[in-house]
Amino acid sequence: MNPHLARLQPYPFEKLRRLIAEPAAVSTDSSASTPAQELREIRLSIGEPQHATPPFIQQALAANLHGLSAYPSTQGSDALRQTIAAWIARRYGIPVPDAATQVLPVNGSREALFAFAQTVIDGSRPGALVVCPNPFYQIYEGAAYLAGAQPLFLNTLPANDFSMDFASIVAEDWRRVQLVYVCSPGNPSGKVLGLDTWRTLFELSDKYGFVIASDECYSEIHFAENEADAPLGGLQAARQLGRDDYRNLVMFSSLSKRSNVPGLRSGFVAGDAAIIKQFLLYRTYHGSAMSPAVQAASIAAWNDEEHVRENRRLYREKFDHVTPLLAQYLDVARPDAGFYLWASVARYAAPGDTFFDMKFTRALQHQYNVSILPGSFLAREAAGINPGANFIRIALVADIAECIEAAQRIANYCKTL
Ligand SMILES: Cc1ncc(COP(=O)(O)O)c(C=O)c1O
Repeated sequence: MNPHLARLQPYPFEKLRRLIAEPAAVSTDSSASTPAQELREIRLSIGEPQHATPPFIQQALAANLHGLSAYPSTQGSDALRQTIAAWIARRYGIPVPDAATQVLPVNGSREALFAFAQTVIDGSRPGALVVCPNPFYQIYEGAAYLAGAQPLFLNTLPANDFSMDFASIVAEDWRRVQLVYVCSPGNPSGKVLGLDTWRTLFELSDKYGFVIASDECYSEIHFAENEADAPLGGLQAARQLGRDDYRNLVMFSSLSKRSNVPGLRSGFVAGDAAIIKQFLLYRTYHGSAMSPAVQAASIAAWNDEEHVRENRRLYREKFDHVTPLLAQYLDVARPDAGFYLWASVARYAAPGDTFFDMKFTRALQHQYNVSILPGSFLAREAAGINPGANFIRIALVADIAECIEAAQRIANYCKTL
């Protein structure tokens, strides 16, 4: 067996399942071990969009099933790459990337974020490091381990406005860093990286030679009235700083959240042509070609913004109702972007009770049948703390009535604390 497999941790949702199933006797709270049955369950734990998939995307998928009789190429069709390149130019106000060399379709950003580390990391170089935000999307960690590297976590905390403190990494470690994952808008904090952060990151990349993987799968879920104020993208930042070749930078985007199609498995990577060439080689062997029907549906989705505006409107409405209600009981604010509320429950924790987020989550599920995620499940201990501890993540993915109902139940629970 590959020994690195032993380093993979259970996924946060598996940890959640175990936490909720824990018998009351050994549990850290006194609530019953089966959820309150008289209340309908509201699931705000998984970041899975629950808005309806636009019918035109379904129709494009169904109308292109004839393509199933042929093997698709790993590079995808010219039409799909050109559509994506045109979307990038429209969205970020930058020149159209070269669809032949700078863009590649992927089967959702998850598999691509994982496969990317396998492509760019030289595990035979001693002490390979992969910088990850903390809390973080767990794929980064598994990708680093499977590539023979170690993750190096940078805590993102309210005190530093949820940004990654690159200055905290010493030169000796930077020399071992081969890959840096950034997530903007961030999961879970929603933080969007600003141009100054990008400048710092590019300077460090030039100095130490590492590759930047910019996870931007939440980029289209934002609150900007004016589209010019939409979250800054990595390629956009590179252009603004004169890095027209996107050297050492690859962005990851996805239709899952933007177009409510997590089941379609469709996204793209774009950026440094030399890296994308190697990534295509890797993917050819891995067998990661996208189905022609999915390619056709993806073209339809990337070519339409109306449904994305409507999607944003629905999320905005939910944040407008839920955030002020919860802010009366939790330390929480509307994020820069994304569909998560990242709220501190520290005020209810007894002194020294670092993991009250778990008790909070469990009791909320058992007493109020609302499912959320303890922040500590999304983070690792680094620099002596778990930066997700005593936070909870609330995914506003259910419909507005359910989100408001859930917020009221959370408020009712908080009143008992
Ligand atoms: C930060 C982050 N990146 C990537 C993904 C993967 O999304 P997909 O594979 O559907 O594009 C997710 C999904 O929840 C996520 O939260």
